[in-house]
Amino acid sequence: MFNDPHPDEVRVISKRFGLPNSASIDTYLANEGYVALMKAIEMSPEQIIDELKISSLRGRGGAGFPTGMKWSFIPRDNPKPKYVVVNADESEPGTCKDRLLIENDPHQLIEGCLIAARTIGCKKGYIYIRGEYRYLIDIMDKALAEAYAHGYLGKNIKGSGLDFDLYTHTGAGAYECGEESALLESLEGKRGVPRIRPPFPAVAGLYASPTVLNNVETFATVPAVLRMGGQAYADLGTPKNGGTRMLCVSGHVNRPGVYEVPLGFPMHKMIYEVCGGIRNGKKLKAVIPGGSSSPVLRAEECDFPMDYDNYARMKTMAGSGGMMVMDEDTDIVKVALRTMRFYAHESCGWCIPCREGTTWLRKILTRMDEGTGRRADIDLIHELAKNMLGRTFCPLGDAAAMPTIGFVEKFREEFEARLRETTVPVVSPDQLISIS
Ligand SMILES: Cc1cc2nc3c(=O)[nH]c(=O)nc-3n(C[C@H](O)[C@H](O)[C@H](O)COP(=O)(O)O)c2cc1C
Ligand code: SF4
Repeated sequence: MFNDPHPDEVRVISKRFGLPNSASIDTYLANEGYVALMKAIEMSPEQIIDELKISSLRGRGGAGFPTGMKWSFIPRDNPKPKYVVVNADESEPGTCKDRLLIENDPHQLIEGCLIAARTIGCKKGYIYIRGEYRYLIDIMDKALAEAYAHGYLGKNIKGSGLDFDLYTHTGAGAYECGEESALLESLEGKRGVPRIRPPFPAVAGLYASPTVLNNVETFATVPAVLRMGGQAYADLGTPKNGGTRMLCVSGHVNRPGVYEVPLGFPMHKMIYEVCGGIRNGKKLKAVIPGGSSSPVLRAEECDFPMDYDNYARMKTMAGSGGMMVMDEDTDIVKVALRTMRFYAHESCGWCIPCREGTTWLRKILTRMDEGTGRRADIDLIHELAKNMLGRTFCPLGDAAAMPTIGFVEKFREEFEARLRETTVPVVSPDQLISIS
């Protein structure tokens, strides 16, 4: 899935990808593995959090929340046990980077978890992996066994007094279980439906205890931050957008794949130089920049430095880093329908705006696609999606509404053309008789 390194890539967390036995602890130890943990053991929790804050590392799971700040919310004086939870559900359509990080470098993730445990004073952690990624669970379990055998997990790690146990836990393959509070419910053995917040996981997470929950890529980046120093990591990116990001580029480019580039890397360069341009010499039509929930961009909008703030300026999202590139032949109505089929299927059904909204959007988009759409449908889709925004129990409703609004606003002419193409001529009863 990952390609040979491109000269424009800056491989920080994927630098061990492609090494022989890259998943093994021997390869890891021979290539700066567990060096950051040893540093962390010498540092105070406050110093670790300060380094993370300086690095301006932002969560790689979707929302882009600053990681140092998130870890600082864990209450020190709470007597309950604390937990580290890795979100390896990787549910967002278009996203496939976390699985590569586990497949190629599981010890980097373990080291990130250990540093988190050291920071918050935690003795147990869980890696919640999507059930469909069965092979990853085997890779991860093997790496965990190696870490125990080498004294990097378990009691009194490397004589530091730190005790930490880390386990894998299988999900059953539901998009909603990637949402942090639903993930915690699922991890507790319950149905994976979201919790009302506040309280947030930092205060009441797993088993109502303080919990640091982050994406795989976020945890995997932490060792590099401590090894390089927060400022050196931050300097790779742009202000407030530190470091690098794994981008999973799919769709109509010549070289789809997962690439690690600095934050602020130009989107145009990504498509035309790193990914080799649009296949078959076609023109670029649109890009969904950060997984299926991020609003689409038209071709003429696809030349900006990709960092969290610039995505927001473009009224879209960095999201999970799943960049889907579409050529001039792409049928946007079909893309909208396919997207909504996914959300209607994955809605947990708990709240009405999401359950009914996604179902109706799917129905209306289906009739548009099948040629039986009505003129009023375009505004109806737009209005319905806008009415879902901010009115659902968890962000899945927004995740369904935002791209739909984007498709209609950015490609209205395609929805209209679809109506013109498919308008059934009005036939009078007399004509019908003459036809029969
Ligand atoms: C419906 C839904 C699905 C999500 N799926 C994932 C996922 O598969 N992986 C992930 O890391 N975050 C996912 N998130 C975001 C998480 O709720 C959470 O913000 C994230 O794991 C926090 O980690 P970070 O701070 O490192 O980004 C999802 C959110 C929603 C609303
Ligand atoms: S928005 Fe509501 S129905 Fe949709 S997944 Fe979240 S809780 Fe379930």
